[in-house]
Amino acid sequence: MDAKADQKTSAATATAAPAAKNGERQSERVIIRTVGLKKSYLMKDVVTEALRGVDVEILTGEFISVMGPSGSGKSTFFNMIGALDSPTTGRVFIDEVDVAQLTAEELAYLRCHKIGYIFQSYNLIKYMTALENVTTPMAFGGVMPDEARERGMDLLDVVGLKERWHHRPIEMSGGQQQRVAIARGLANRPSVLLCDEPTGNLDLRTGQEILDILKRLNTDQNVTIICATHDHRMMNICDRLMWIRDGQIERLARRDEVHIEVGSIGGQTE
Ligand SMILES: Nc1ncnc2c1ncn2[C@@H]1O[C@H](COP(=O)(O)OP(=O)(O)OP(=O)(O)O)[C@@H](O)[C@H]1O
Ligand SMILES: [Mg+2]
Repeated sequence: MDAKADQKTSAATATAAPAAKNGERQSERVIIRTVGLKKSYLMKDVVTEALRGVDVEILTGEFISVMGPSGSGKSTFFNMIGALDSPTTGRVFIDEVDVAQLTAEELAYLRCHKIGYIFQSYNLIKYMTALENVTTPMAFGGVMPDEARERGMDLLDVVGLKERWHHRPIEMSGGQQQRVAIARGLANRPSVLLCDEPTGNLDLRTGQEILDILKRLNTDQNVTIICATHDHRMMNICDRLMWIRDGQIERLARRDEVHIEVGSIGGQTE
């Protein structure tokens, strides 16, 4: 890493003070930590440096918005901190466990139990009902069918879809499908929910419903939420904002440090 990038990274890490919420200090346990995270992709002899040295600490119970232009590395960052892909160099610690040291079995356990994943395109299984979609990860998590059904109904209740448990994705709106996806993401009671543009395919009102659900999960259940987004309303509900540009953290700031202007955030336009 060159000196300039180093300076930028340490400036970003330095602003990573524990966020205060509801006037109280959050638990200061680090749930996600990256050290010198780099990821390059090689395609037809062309190397793309998607991440170029990311150092960040995220605390339990935080709600972080990750913003940045298309191609800046947001999804790549999610794949790394979600242990879905490995970095070219650098390290990812989840709950202070170095992901690179885990066996395949331990990695599968971590993905199943520690982290919930929510994507822009819902990724529900077409021929399954809402309830079956939600309970499928529970089967991998070793939950018995009766308990899975009960827990699944509770989760559908949390996202306001209990009455529609028997609906298949095709019988639901985009917003409803995303709510099922959130319930599924919570199936094995993860401590972290990774959301990659969860409102990207939704209209404003429906997007707001999804934001409200995420905020409630964060506040009521202390789920750590890390959310890549182009949705500026996310600013109203997150604790910290992280801007990624060209594979590096451009800025990391608490919400109350950020000046909001129409069309720009903190003076940085996308
Ligand atoms: N599997 C891959 N193979 C090759 N290049 C990739 C791969 N995944 C991502 N990239 C490249 O890495 C860079 C970062 O991509 P990434 O998907 O992380 O961006 P992003 O910030 O999520 O963008 P968007 O807002 O459009 O979702 C881009 O230049 C992209 O083309
Ligand atoms: Mg992306």
